[in-house]
Amino acid sequence: MSVAALMAELWRDYRTLAPHAEPIHELIGGGGEVPNDHVAFRGLNRPGFGIDAIAAPFVALGYREQGEYLFPDKKLFARHFETEDPNDPKLFVSELEVEKLGPAARSILDRLMETAVLPPDRPLARAGRPWPVAQSEYRTLLEESEYAAWLAAFGYVVNHFTVAVHRVPRWPSLETLNQALIDSGFALNGSGGLIKGSPEVGLEQSSTLAAPITVAFTDGPLEIPGVYYEFARRHPVNGALFSGFVTGSADRIFESTDVRR
Ligand code: NI
Repeated sequence: MSVAALMAELWRDYRTLAPHAEPIHELIGGGGEVPNDHVAFRGLNRPGFGIDAIAAPFVALGYREQGEYLFPDKKLFARHFETEDPNDPKLFVSELEVEKLGPAARSILDRLMETAVLPPDRPLARAGRPWPVAQSEYRTLLEESEYAAWLAAFGYVVNHFTVAVHRVPRWPSLETLNQALIDSGFALNGSGGLIKGSPEVGLEQSSTLAAPITVAFTDGPLEIPGVYYEFARRHPVNGALFSGFVTGSADRIFESTDVRR
């Protein structure tokens, strides 16, 4: 399998959870190519459920670890991976530090992992939700960690695709792109301002708020935030295009799946 083929499979999975993906793709690309900056996944820091397991099919295609990131408030750790081809999408994978959660949340996550049935024919990154989960469990997790609740509800699917805005000449700035999205009725994540980061740090990012999607819980369906679309504009730092991630910005981008209370 090639990187392009894997990305095409992931895009198909993602589209089914992201009703806004196609119209945004169309708006940004105007029918032309829309280069992808990175895909992102969420996991749990347990063997078989975390970064290593999620990244495995990417590593098999030549992806190598390039950076690590800590998010103490959200109890998350993340790594990013790249291939040697700067045009290949990067991979950003995070995992929840389960032992840092309270007993109620921890016991739910332990039960999810114990009851997980992973599909034998596809990698963890395409497994979807491998465990049954109840609305009451989702709500308990939500009180302590939006990330944990989202992962319990959706499992292993792409959390977001990201337009590489610096590679689309028709959008000279992230501001103009954000305004066009707002004018077309898309809701953007305003946590920390619409744009996280700056040219000086090498990366400006914005994102949609995750579109609501109906999830089948064991005790009935519930509409909750699904996946989102991110927009990244990279800038040169010390003469080379910045290829990493900015912790303070990523921290706010995580909130794109927060429940609107
Ligand atoms: Ni991202």
